[in-house]
Amino acid sequence: MARILLTGGAGFIGSHTAVVLLERGYDVVLLDNFSNAARDVPERLRRITGMTVPLIEADIRDETAMAAALAAFPVDAVIHFAAKKAVGESEADPLLYYDANIVGTVRLLSAMRRASVGRIVFSSSATVYGEPDRCPIAEDAALRAANVYGRTKLVMEGMITDLVRTGVMDAAAVLRYFNPVGAHPSGLIGEEPRSEPANLMPYLCQVAERKRPHLNVFGADYKTRDGSGVRDFIHVMDLAEAHEAALRRVLARDGDFAVNLGTGVGYSVLEMVAAFEATTGVKVPYKIAPRRAGDIAECYADPSLAADLLGWRAGRGVEDMCRDAWRWQSRAALTNGE
Ligand SMILES: NC(=O)c1ccc[n+]([C@@H]2O[C@H](COP(=O)([O-])OP(=O)(O)OC[C@H]3O[C@@H](n4cnc5c(N)ncnc54)[C@H](O)[C@@H]3O)[C@@H](O)[C@H]2O)c1
Repeated sequence: MARILLTGGAGFIGSHTAVVLLERGYDVVLLDNFSNAARDVPERLRRITGMTVPLIEADIRDETAMAAALAAFPVDAVIHFAAKKAVGESEADPLLYYDANIVGTVRLLSAMRRASVGRIVFSSSATVYGEPDRCPIAEDAALRAANVYGRTKLVMEGMITDLVRTGVMDAAAVLRYFNPVGAHPSGLIGEEPRSEPANLMPYLCQVAERKRPHLNVFGADYKTRDGSGVRDFIHVMDLAEAHEAALRRVLARDGDFAVNLGTGVGYSVLEMVAAFEATTGVKVPYKIAPRRAGDIAECYADPSLAADLLGWRAGRGVEDMCRDAWRWQSRAALTNGE
């Protein structure tokens, strides 16, 4: 079976993808600098899958370390998750994002070329669409990222597709995620932000856990069903399974595409709060706050290309997302000693 290197493999989406790949028989190697991940993730993956996963502690910007990693573990493809991902931070410190995301990807791609690894699956984001003209958003919508983070994703997408177009690489899948939430049903892995969460679900879980007094709902005067922003929340296990589907095409050297990964259904922030309360029985106090600069009213995917190209559709609903996120956050599995 193919061996796959996961940069940022100890992070939120990388660790869930590792579970799916391991369970489907792939050989997995994780590479992470642990800037935004817990060191015991490989141990937790072992508890979930019964398999020990090799881990390389390295920074993707260190081309020598990347070359050494690819020499020690010859791989058939790379899934490139490693990046910085906070929009606000990217606007406050653009150079940090150019370095981590763009320079990091250049170094990774150079090391891959030296090691003759020509296949890649890349983590992009719906942020590349900026404020869309219409929803659902299809892949041929205008690309006009409205912040530094999104622009780094556009540059990275462009570099990767250029390398396939010019024959430097064999195949690439660019995956544009919408809003990943939830966690593995074991409660052993999930999203673990190091600082104040910038995304709805981890913040909401921390309020439910009484770590924070209330949730701020940024804007209740959008032209949406209830005035709050509408997003396409997708369960991280659905997302992980989509990576395996994309990987299969890339391994068959049948990849030079960008595809949306979302459910195609938008839920508002207030609907997510209500779904969380109904699913978990835990109250989430919230306050309406002013809109955040750069936020848009609604954003949800047209998922039909993913269905056609990858034979993949998201199957899990908002109840699964809320239940699994809460199980992870409340560490029910750990406390119960499962
Ligand atoms: N979570 C989301 O909402 C979302 C949405 C769209 C796109 N994405 C993209 O998906 C990818 C994974 O996101 P995530 O939510 O799992 O984030 P995450 O922060 O949990 O995972 C990223 C991992 O990469 C590691 N990392 C960061 N910089 C590194 C470097 N220079 N060298 C080595 N390792 C490094 C971090 O330690 C972390 O483990 C990112 O590229 C992100 O931009 C995420």
